[in-house]
Amino acid sequence: MRYGSNLSRRSFMRIAGAATVAAPILTEAHLAWAQVGRRTPLDLPPGAVLINANENPMGPCESACDAISKAAMNGGRYDFKRTFELTKVFSEQEGLKPNYISVYAGSSEPLHYTVLAFTSPEKGYVTADPGYESGMVAAGIAKAKVSKVALKSDYSHDVKAMLAADPNAGVFYICNPNNPTGTTTPKADIQWALDNKPKGSILLVDEAYIHLSDAESCIDMVKADKDLIILRTFSKVYGMAGIRCGFAIGRPDLLGKLQAYGQNPMPITAASAATASLKDATLVPTRKKIIADIRNDTFEWLSANNYSFIPSVSNCFMIDTRRDGKGVFDAMVKKNVYIGRVWSVWPTHVRVTVGSKDDMAKFKVAFKEVMDAPATATLEMPELPFKTPFSHLG
Ligand SMILES: Cc1ncc(COP(=O)(O)O)c(C=O)c1O
Repeated sequence: MRYGSNLSRRSFMRIAGAATVAAPILTEAHLAWAQVGRRTPLDLPPGAVLINANENPMGPCESACDAISKAAMNGGRYDFKRTFELTKVFSEQEGLKPNYISVYAGSSEPLHYTVLAFTSPEKGYVTADPGYESGMVAAGIAKAKVSKVALKSDYSHDVKAMLAADPNAGVFYICNPNNPTGTTTPKADIQWALDNKPKGSILLVDEAYIHLSDAESCIDMVKADKDLIILRTFSKVYGMAGIRCGFAIGRPDLLGKLQAYGQNPMPITAASAATASLKDATLVPTRKKIIADIRNDTFEWLSANNYSFIPSVSNCFMIDTRRDGKGVFDAMVKKNVYIGRVWSVWPTHVRVTVGSKDDMAKFKVAFKEVMDAPATATLEMPELPFKTPFSHLG
């Protein structure tokens, strides 16, 4: 099996196992495709429906595409000023000082580096369960203790239980809205966690999906110089997962700790596209509505067919199939519809990304056929390419 354009499984394993820090930085797409096992994005049958990796089928907006082609013509230059311009535009929009923003090629990189910088064998990592696993992989590399804390019954983060889980934690990771549930955590709870966390620790608040919801950002806590780092990405509402751009937002002394792990100059295409996207005042409200309409239509259909799901305010949601979720996932793959992952804590749930109208129409047909058929036996769970960092998590 191949994991990337030119990585065989063996070479991926060698990279994952070889070095402490030079391990792969995992994105949602790595995790999503690892579960498919037999197929990769490179050998998909024609017409495959890709609603597995929380991508945005709308792609970059028109002004971002124009900015990319104009920047490409200047691609012989490093042209750092495009990253400065992006930082300036974002800092003005958010009322942040520019040195409170670090630009990366996506938010996976600063997520990974924050965990490496603030966890260790003595300082643990606390996350929600089910939650986005990429930080756990970095914590594994740092040999930090990982504490997974169940979501509350309203699917928000149980911040009190998270703080109680590890008094020596270095990082408390709060993904708001959460991946995979698409549910939010009240800002008052995040504030409580900030006020009560152990000294020397930080909150890592991942706002990858915040534009899709009405959740309030925690950027004001950064402005108040508190101990937290916020992550933002252009991969979701802005549709730039393949273009790669994201931010770490925090006090300069906190951001400085991430730099020890490296900071590559930004591709000028990504910086230019991100700036153009920020300047498009209609992008967020328009796309938020398009995604919400498709999501709500899917929810109506699920309800009408008596399928149980968790109401989400994001571009992904979980369905409780009330049978082995991996079996459903595999049966959907056979119908050329690639849905998202199964979390071991909830083995009957599958995550589904909100795709285009057409994607969701195909999803409905395939899902009904799968659910109308008797449950199939689970195919063997594929080996994850990053077995080394994950293996201690059990
Ligand atoms: C919760 C969360 N954080 C961070 C990321 C990282 O995205 P990227 O590296 O594309 O910015 C993702 C990707 O899906 C995500 O789901």
